Amino acid sequence: MRAWFQLRYLDLLGSIYLYNEHRGYTALDGVLEAVGARWPEDAEFIAKVRKHRADEHKHYLMFRRWFERRGVMPLAVNRACGHIDRFVAIMFRSAIDDLDPLRIVERDDLFERLCRVISLTERRGHRQVQILLRHPVVRQDATLMKIFRIIEQDEPSHWAPYDEWLDAHGRRPPSWWERAIDRFIHGELLFVKLPLLFAMPQLTRRSTWPNEQDLTRTKSEAVLHANG
Ligand SMILES: [Fe+2]
Ligand SMILES: [Fe+2]
Repeated sequence: MRAWFQLRYLDLLGSIYLYNEHRGYTALDGVLEAVGARWPEDAEFIAKVRKHRADEHKHYLMFRRWFERRGVMPLAVNRACGHIDRFVAIMFRSAIDDLDPLRIVERDDLFERLCRVISLTERRGHRQVQILLRHPVVRQDATLMKIFRIIEQDEPSHWAPYDEWLDAHGRRPPSWWERAIDRFIHGELLFVKLPLLFAMPQLTRRSTWPNEQDLTRTKSEAVLHANG
């Protein structure tokens, strides 16, 4: 029974991370395109966002390999388990996929909001990884420990560009209520959604990897562009 619990915990943890890393780099593709269009001269900011995107992609691949080595597919968790999905939905009243980054960068008030959301999400990720590195079940998995150590190292360079942008443009850092929303989302995932998923026997495994849809999406976007 204990072994089942531990396996289920790691399975869920890895699946939620895999979902969030994929969500991270695909959402940053849009941010990167928009930032390049609005501030093409700001090579330093663009390079930092590009590095952030590359890191999230690297994290995604580490979790994918972790599952491949275990010989199982990730559990089919969805955007209900995405921290940034929930945060964007609350702050912009829109799903990430429906949000047009080009429209966001046109307005400083919207872009500064997005910077604070990304910064808080990355700081949350860093704190969570530090907790997981001390977790007895996680500590039994050497590969997972290695992955979380890499993420721990990478995370500070992820919130820095957005904090620097806010500072350079005289915009405020996150407020108490934005921090409260971040805490609420995290608590909801940890104490409501995770226990529910844990006990949900009908939770199936994915049949494909999330990045297989990247290609489909790029192809359909190419068709749209060609037709438009
Ligand atoms: Fe990441
Ligand atoms: Fe990150």
